[in-house]
Amino acid sequence: HWTAEEKAAISSVWKQVNVESDGQEALARLLIVYPWTQRYFSSFGDLSSPAAICANAKVRAHGKKVLSALGAGANHLDDIKGNFADLSKLHADTLHVDPNNFLLLANCLVIVLARKLGAAFNPQVHAAWEKFLAVSTAALSRNYH
Ligand code: HEM
Repeated sequence: HWTAEEKAAISSVWKQVNVESDGQEALARLLIVYPWTQRYFSSFGDLSSPAAICANAKVRAHGKKVLSALGAGANHLDDIKGNFADLSKLHADTLHVDPNNFLLLANCLVIVLARKLGAAFNPQVHAAWEKFLAVSTAALSRNYH
C-alpha cells in the first residue's frame, strides 16, 4: 500500500535523520510540550524544567532508541506490523503507555524534521512521512485490548 513516490520520500527523509540528536529533540519536546507524559519516565532523573530535560542524558539515550526503532520500521515498510509487534506488547502490557501518546510523539518528530529539512519537507514529503507515522503508531497500538 505504498506508492513508489511515498517510498522514495520516506527513505529520503530517513537518510537525513540523526537518530541521536533528532531523537533527543523529539523526546524532549514531548516531555516539555505535553508534560503529563513525564509520568512514564520517573526513573530518568531531573525533568524539572525545559533546560533540565534538554540536558538529561537518559532522555538523549532513550530518544536515540525510539528513533532507531522507528528507522527499522522505515526500512521494513511492507511489514510494519511485524516490525512493531514486540514493542506494541511492551508498551501495552508492561509499560501501560496510553497509545494517544504515540501520536503526540509523532507530532513532535514532524516538527523536528520540518525545522531541520526546511523547504525539502514539502507537502508531498510531509504527507508520505505522516502516513508512515500513522501506520507505525497504529502498529504500536495493535496489542492494546
Ligand atoms: C521503551 C520505542 C513511544 C514510553 C521503548 C523502547 C523502544 C521504544 C525501542 C526500548 C525497549 C527495550 O528496551 O526493549 C518507541 C517508539 C515509540 C514510542 C518507536 C513511538 C513512535 C513512546 C511514548 C511513551 C513511551 C509516547 C510515553 C509517553 C516508553 C517507556 C519505555 C519505553 C517508559 C521504558 C523506558 C526505560 O525505562 O528505559 N520505547 N516508543 N514510548 N517507551 Fe517507548
